[in-house]
Amino acid sequence: MLALPRLRRRTGLLVAFLLAVALALPVFGTTVTRAAAASPGPCDIYASGGTPCEAAYSTTRAMFASYNGPLYQIQRASDSAALNIGLASAGGLVDSAPQVSFCAGTTCTLVQLYDQTPNANNMPISPGSSCSGCANGLSGPGPNGSDIGADAMALPITVGGRPAYGVLVDTIGTGYRNNAVKNVPIGSQPEGIYMLTSSNLTSGSCCFDFGSAETDDSDDGNSTMNAIYYGSACWTGGCTGSGPWVGGDLENGMYFSAAGPNPSNIPSETGSFVTAWEKNNGTTNFTLKYGNGQSGGLTQAYSGALPDGYNPMKVQPSVELGTGGDNSPEGTGEFFEGAVTKGFPTDATENSVQANITSAGYTNNTTTFPPPTESVVSLKAHANGKYVDAANSSTSLVADATSVGRNETFDMVANTNGTVNLKALSDNDWVTAESNGNAPLIANRGAPGPWETFSLLHNPDGSVSLRAYNNQHIVTAENAGASALIANRTAIGPWEEFDLAPVTVPVSFRAHANNTYVSAENTGASALIADRTAIGSWETFDLIGNTDGSVSLKAHADGDYVTADNAGAAPLIANRTAIGPWEKFTLVGNTDGSVSLLARVNNHDVSAPDGGTSPLIASATSITSAEKYDLVFD
Ligand code: AHR
Repeated sequence: MLALPRLRRRTGLLVAFLLAVALALPVFGTTVTRAAAASPGPCDIYASGGTPCEAAYSTTRAMFASYNGPLYQIQRASDSAALNIGLASAGGLVDSAPQVSFCAGTTCTLVQLYDQTPNANNMPISPGSSCSGCANGLSGPGPNGSDIGADAMALPITVGGRPAYGVLVDTIGTGYRNNAVKNVPIGSQPEGIYMLTSSNLTSGSCCFDFGSAETDDSDDGNSTMNAIYYGSACWTGGCTGSGPWVGGDLENGMYFSAAGPNPSNIPSETGSFVTAWEKNNGTTNFTLKYGNGQSGGLTQAYSGALPDGYNPMKVQPSVELGTGGDNSPEGTGEFFEGAVTKGFPTDATENSVQANITSAGYTNNTTTFPPPTESVVSLKAHANGKYVDAANSSTSLVADATSVGRNETFDMVANTNGTVNLKALSDNDWVTAESNGNAPLIANRGAPGPWETFSLLHNPDGSVSLRAYNNQHIVTAENAGASALIANRTAIGPWEEFDLAPVTVPVSFRAHANNTYVSAENTGASALIADRTAIGSWETFDLIGNTDGSVSLKAHADGDYVTADNAGAAPLIANRTAIGPWEKFTLVGNTDGSVSLLARVNNHDVSAPDGGTSPLIASATSITSAEKYDLVFD
């Protein structure tokens, strides 16, 4: 690992100059010099408020006016060379031009975030379960169970008119961590945290965090971590809206209030740049705020007691970004800058830091991410030519069926990172590689986590294989299909091959707009509308998987296909006898478990407008509750 000499914020001009000359190493790209003083950075403001930064990171700018060291380190794939990326001027903005030429024609990984405080609490890629004492944590996909780094070029933005890159946590197991940080608050000492993130990429999975966590990458119990969580996971239930929200990950729960849920008047906290704030006095109060990273002030979402069982806090000296305290790998998000402070920052200090962020000139965060898609499938084992059967939540999956019925049907959520989660229709539970793959696959989990996540591998013959995310082993139809499926193979042969085929299955759609079922009104002669409280034949549709990955809906009301009539300009109606472009939809899987229907003909989401009182129409350009439906398998 390359190390770079770094100047301390309080170092005098002469000493700084001599240090720079004496210590500068032949590191690609960065030399340490001191320029004229710049305007204050976020950590100067925190210091003035008596709550100094003890760990501060940014890929875009200096956090102190006097900082002139590296911001982060990248490594390129072509020759494994590393490069430190620094500032265009002391206390100023990033100079990312060297990164662009260094990474030309190859890929670059962000391997380390430099701490800009005097503590040198740098964050390399998280060790995951690979470090000594970390065996109880969740493994990442990197060597020996470590995590992986972000693609250094994947999140281009502009700051103050200069090109910059954020940290994109979009692949399972991307994470950074330092398990031996100095001078940060521990135990129940008061602590403040902020980060600049974005709602362009979030998830409902655990956990996109930034802040303090356990030193052993493991769940050490309630209150052993204090990090900002940003996402739409609502573990306690009772949340309003679909998020994302700023929360406190205090271990074994992301809390948006002492009881758990977010305030009902704040159904989501969004923006292409979002500032997220958490402070915790360790015993009697934690406070959550959010703001727009481009303009305006802060909104307090919660300030009050800690959850039951979290007083006093027992925070450990570790700082992490991108994962949960136990290295839970599934959260996704974006990061541009953030800091951990000693002490409980005042509102005035936080307001000043917010003003500092908005004046930095963050723009052009236009990176978009396709949502997960859903389909309904069967799996036919090459081992014996039989279909995988998930009989119930106490019987392991086995390839023993000669035809496809409900027990052989799975709702497959395809995530954008190439992984899938499978929900068995037989019991509505998610398929898990039980005991981290040491026991057979079984459909008995209420929510997908690492053991319920599989990479979908496409084989040359058109079949697929499933590699369990957490133990990285391939699922086999053991004993030529005579025994249950288990994730314990390292290579693919016929027992590990499955034909994945779409299944036509009757479903109903419950609209989030008004919690009623979508009906093909008037025996299908009128447009679809969400106005029924019970499911009958007018509220039932065959969900048909097409070979291009789209789905079509055939109404039981009249046996006709649902069309986004007039190329989507008119409401949906079930009156077509064949499937063409107007009758094709992408089934989008939302992070809260609902689905949306994206009309292929006009690329608009199907809305239940006016609180569901008007007919369904493909007119929305983004997904709100009016475009969400619970998929109910009859
Ligand atoms: O608190 C939520 C998560 O629960 C933590 O991040 C993780 O350590 C545990 O799985």
